[in-house]
Amino acid sequence: MALDIEAIRADFPILKRVLPNGKQLVYFDNAATSQKPKCVIDAMSHFYEEYNSNAHRANHTLADEATAALESARARISSYFGTGPANLIYTSGATEAINLVAYGWGRYNLERDDVIVITEMEHHADIVPWQELSKTHGVEVRFVPIDTKTFTLDMEAFEVALDGAKLVCVVHTSNVLGVRNPIERIIEMSHAVGAKVLIDAAQGAPHERIFFDSSGADFVAISSHKMAGPTGIGCLLVKTDVMAEMGPFMTGGSMIRRVTTEGTTFQEGHAMFETGTPRIAEAIGWGAAVEWLAQFDMREVHAHINDLASWTSNQLLDIPGIKIYGDPSHKDSSGAISFLHDGIQSQDLAMLLDEGGFAVRTGHHCAQPLMDALGVPATNRASFWIYNTLDEVQAFIEYLRFICERFA
Ligand SMILES: Cc1ncc(COP(=O)(O)O)c(C=O)c1O
Repeated sequence: MALDIEAIRADFPILKRVLPNGKQLVYFDNAATSQKPKCVIDAMSHFYEEYNSNAHRANHTLADEATAALESARARISSYFGTGPANLIYTSGATEAINLVAYGWGRYNLERDDVIVITEMEHHADIVPWQELSKTHGVEVRFVPIDTKTFTLDMEAFEVALDGAKLVCVVHTSNVLGVRNPIERIIEMSHAVGAKVLIDAAQGAPHERIFFDSSGADFVAISSHKMAGPTGIGCLLVKTDVMAEMGPFMTGGSMIRRVTTEGTTFQEGHAMFETGTPRIAEAIGWGAAVEWLAQFDMREVHAHINDLASWTSNQLLDIPGIKIYGDPSHKDSSGAISFLHDGIQSQDLAMLLDEGGFAVRTGHHCAQPLMDALGVPATNRASFWIYNTLDEVQAFIEYLRFICERFA
């Protein structure tokens, strides 16, 4: 059944937004964060209006309701990701999830000279924690380069880098290039040399169903706010036997079993890693988001986004002076289009587009090593999601042509 984009758009109040200059909003910054459907906003308001309370603490009615909602959201979200609630650790987002692997697993299981393989196309969230770990634990961080002609990971170099690897950390889908990495092969090759695998699925989860248990990955980091859920929450999915190898990351309330003046014992399982007051409203909102998303076949969602990206990138290539970094018309691409104009600075271009109502991202996209590999300091990025339309991308191309003719 084809997606009914108009019905989908009706679920998102913000898409009706008119900007202060009178222009209708066209939101093409979805790789930064997606918009939220009304059911997510309502679920969070309902919590605050009807049963706001702390969870896992008191015994009154509201506390019981808040605890039940937090845990039923865990069940719903973990089931959406093809795993059980015991394998899901709530975090503040993908960034904290990756830090949790570095501090909660890496610190306890890696030693001096152990090798961590990452790639040049990682987000800073999947680079800096490993660099920090190399300072404190003497681990070696190896970067796999990209092929700057095809904008894909150099898999031959990956194979070479695997020699002696203990941990491999790879982005599922690049937030800059839109390229989806061959994660199935990466997991297989990494396990063949005995390395654990962390997949950063912050950009992958909004574009395809992630089935954690059958993926074989040891860790998957996911962000709620890029897949219709609220900001402030995400999760780390962890295999049961791997979670048993982890130790405390952040310490304090909730994650303890017993604290005395002599010392502390800790909870087991995901409870050991969820310190302090949980993100209750956010978990409820994310639960509503995955329920909303579950009504769609993500292959159809991907096909819709891919059609928009293919059409847009073909048109962009027709505009003199525009260069695209990536292959947005590739069948696996997430629809993120990074581009530059050789005569208009990226910041200026973004401002001019904003005047027309088009929200695109400009900058290094938290991927400076990738920018270095591409030989540019920044790009403009248009990224699409489920509610974007052909009318919007046509209007975008028309407006961009006008800008380029006038200002270049
Ligand atoms: C590929 C990738 N990894 C990690 C992150 C960080 O995610 P979060 O905002 O949930 O911390 C992002 C966010 O842009 C991303 O695109």
